[in-house]
Order: sequence, then C-alpha cells, then structure tokens
Amino acid sequence: MPTLPDPWHALLDEARGYPSPHNSQPILVRVHDSRRAEFFYDLDRGLPAENFGIPFGHVCAGVFLESLSTVAAGHGWAVTESLRDDDLDFSATERLHPLGALELAPAQITPDATARLEAFHRRRTSRRPYRRTRVDRAVLDEVTAIAAGTGHAFGATADRALVDDLIRINQETLFDDLRNDAVHAEILAWIRTSKRHAAATRDGLSAETMLLPGPLLGFAMRHRGMWDLPLAGALLRRVYLNTMRGVRELGWLTGPFSGPRDYIEAGRCFMRVWLAFTRRGVHLHPFGTVITNPRSHAAFVDAAGIDESGGIDGSGGASAWMLFRYGHSAEPPRAHRRPLDAMIVGGSR
Ligand SMILES: Cc1cc2nc3c(=O)[nH]c(=O)nc-3n(C[C@H](O)[C@H](O)[C@H](O)COP(=O)(O)O)c2cc1C
Repeated sequence: MPTLPDPWHALLDEARGYPSPHNSQPILVRVHDSRRAEFFYDLDRGLPAENFGIPFGHVCAGVFLESLSTVAAGHGWAVTESLRDDDLDFSATERLHPLGALELAPAQITPDATARLEAFHRRRTSRRPYRRTRVDRAVLDEVTAIAAGTGHAFGATADRALVDDLIRINQETLFDDLRNDAVHAEILAWIRTSKRHAAATRDGLSAETMLLPGPLLGFAMRHRGMWDLPLAGALLRRVYLNTMRGVRELGWLTGPFSGPRDYIEAGRCFMRVWLAFTRRGVHLHPFGTVITNPRSHAAFVDAAGIDESGGIDGSGGASAWMLFRYGHSAEPPRAHRRPLDAMIVGGSR
C-alpha cells in the first residue's frame, strides 16, 4: 500500500468500520496530501440489481461521510466536503465513480465528539432477538430532533398489529427478492456461508451475523424454490422469523429523496440516528430491502399510513427511505471489514 500521510492513515483505518448494504464496502479514497483527498464509489461493489441500487449507493456514501467526520472529530479534525451530484452509472467503463473532494482542518475535541466516536466503535447491526422492553421516550425525542436537524422526520410505531405486519413484510421481501433473477444472483454473490468464507473475503453477509446456520443459509439461497415448499418452506420461515423475536418497536425515516444530494444527506441522517441509538445502548437493524423492493415498499407505506403523494422518486414529497427495528438485545457478532489497503486507490483493490 502507498504510505498515507498523517492523519489520513489513522482516520481512514477507523472510518472503514462504516456500515454498508450487504457489507459490500464500496467506498474508496485517494489521498493527495496530509489535508486533501478524494473519495469514490466502486461500482463493482454496488448493488445494481435492486430497484434502489443508485439511491442506496449514494445513501451509503452519506453514511461513510458521517462516519469519517465522526472519527475525525473524535481525533481533533473537521472534514469539509465538496460533493459532485451526478448519479452513479453502473454501466460505466470507468469503475470508480468520483463522489467528491475531502479536506481536513484542525478542530477542538469536544466531550460530545469523544462520546460519538466511542459509539461509532461500538455500533453494529443487531439481527438478534430483542428483549421486548420499550426504548425510553427521551431517546426517541433525541432521535426525532436529530432527524429534524437534517430536514428529515423520524416515525415510529409500537402498535403490536402494525409491528407484526411490517415484520411479515420484511420477511416476505427476502422471498420476493429471491424470485427476481438479478437480485437473487446479487444476494448469492454477497452471502458468506461459513466463518472461514467470511474471514477470507472480509466482506459480505455472513451466516454468523445473520444468525442462521451457514449450510442452511447456503442451501436455501441456492435452491430458492425451497421457500415455496409446504414443509421445508414453513420451517425456513420459522428459523428466519425466530431471529425477530421480541421486537416491540419499528422506526422509519422520511424526507427529501430526489437526487444524489438528497440521498447523501439521508445517509448522513441515518448514521447520526444510528449512533444516537448506540450511545444510549439501543441496537438497530435496518430493513433496507423493504425500501428497495417495490412491492414491499408499497406495502410498508400503505400499512404505516405514510403519505408519499409527492413521489418517492422525486417530485418533492416526503419519501420513506429507511425502515428499521430498534431495541435492546445481546451483543451481536461483529461483521468483518477489508483491510485499509483495499480502501485506498492504488492499494490492492
Ligand atoms: C443503507 C443500509 C441498508 C441496509 N439494509 C439492510 C437490510 O435490508 N437488511 C439487513 O439485514 N441489513 C441491512 N443493513 C446492514 C448491513 O448489512 C450491515 O451494516 C453490514 O453487514 C455491516 O455490519 P455492521 O453494521 O454490524 O457493521 C443495511 C445497512 C445500510 C448502511
């Protein structure tokens, strides 16, 4: 790997813990000098088969930016960005899509920045059963204010019937996605069915983090017809739904979502919300595929009574762009990350 000037080496080495859909880790960075860098989206690590492949690619870039600025602030740096606003083009010959320029400036380390950095290190997706306890109203108020501060709205429900309905919609999303050949192929490419497989690639969705037995996950994903078989299909659904036990509350985020700038701000908002929950000891599990699967998306907004009449794809209304479960759970397994080298343009990508 080319030697990176300080402080980039230390900052990027921590920021590579940012979460990404399917743990595909698509962000790359080219460092110019001790203050300036550029960042890119590796189109070969995107999820183009999904209906929302492009918007969610930019959302992931926003998640990365918030991660980087959280890490930087915790170490006494402020990040300024100048962002490009052209859509990702998954058919492009040049596979690194430039997202913009980054610049560092020294800043005071505040107690809040230290606490946020600590939350960044603790944060992980919890697909474990939750404890049935409700989350403090004060935490939800804080999350509501954070979302509002970025121009978005946090919605939530603890209504048993609605929670059950949305959990069912999330579960059906997987079966529906598996019926779509392109999405099925994409899922297969990112599934890691053994600890050894996950440790070798250091990316993707491991059976361990999905809390499913690896051989069962591999078999069920490859033989997608199995989900429709009366007995085996029912058993699979039961195993999968078992991980969703104890969910009392679901949350969602709505707001402007009509172009790369909006998507990036949405990603930033999502990461802030996630870190705020983490800081208060609350775990989160995104149901991003409910958003990206058109049928599930329609079922979700309908069930939750969300008005998207302005248009999900752009004409100005509030779009529901994220759904997640949140609550208290045991510590989930940690997902791998690729080494820093793999994140650097000119490294071993
Ligand atoms: C925008 C976004 C959407 C996501 N959607 C889903 C999802 O639909 N289902 C799921 O199980 N995890 C989802 N995740 C969680 C990622 O799979 C997870 O962040 C990644 O595997 C790394 O694991 P970690 O969060 O524990 O570090 C999503 C994450 C992001 C950032």
